[in-house]
Amino acid sequence: MVIFIDRLNTLIHSRRSTKPRLFNGQKIDDETVWQILENANWAPNHGLTQPWRYKVFSNSGLEKLANFQADWYQTNTSKDKFKPEKYERMKTNILKSSHVIVICMERQASEKIPEIEEIEAVACSVQNMALTAAAYDICSFWGSGGVTYTNELKEFLSLGEKDKCLGYLYLGYSDTPTTKSRRDRIQDKVEWIDF
Ligand SMILES: Cc1cc2nc3c(=O)[nH]c(=O)nc-3n(C[C@H](O)[C@H](O)[C@H](O)COP(=O)(O)O)c2cc1C
Repeated sequence: MVIFIDRLNTLIHSRRSTKPRLFNGQKIDDETVWQILENANWAPNHGLTQPWRYKVFSNSGLEKLANFQADWYQTNTSKDKFKPEKYERMKTNILKSSHVIVICMERQASEKIPEIEEIEAVACSVQNMALTAAAYDICSFWGSGGVTYTNELKEFLSLGEKDKCLGYLYLGYSDTPTTKSRRDRIQDKVEWIDF
């Protein structure tokens, strides 16, 4: 057990987000991606609603997502603000990935559980994936912005009206994975009440 807790501490502390522009194009086998997804499925959630839904893009699916996103940028940017390099970047982050897991939350039909708790449950599930990926020496990056919260993306993903997209989890390998990040002391973020 002592060995296990040491490994767990190391895994949690050493997991880093590596930007997809640093990915080398090497593919992850689908079986490993399924193991990552299996661990996503064991996140805590209120009322066992299991609100996480994942759309996995790989192979020509990546091109579909990349083209959708770049076209969205073109359509929604005025001519004077349009930057061809940004249009290309909208594609390359996706195309350099092995798999992109689009993170979605399916809203409970009865809406009994508060929406924030469903989003929290999905975030727990994503952390399970990031840690599992790290344990396999696979790089991951949770990205949002741009198209993430738009109705156009919801339509592209065939999400229900009350469902949400919460970002992309880019997966891949890198020759130069990120190893550094920083956190301020936990002691400065905790109030301990024992009297
Ligand atoms: C919900 C969510 C969305 C994020 N979106 C972005 C993003 O669009 N762009 C970005 O640079 N970082 C984004 N991040 C932060 C990175 O994924 C990463 O956590 C951060 O760079 C810290 O790196 P570390 O995880 O290695 O400590 C997001 C994180 C979360 C939790």
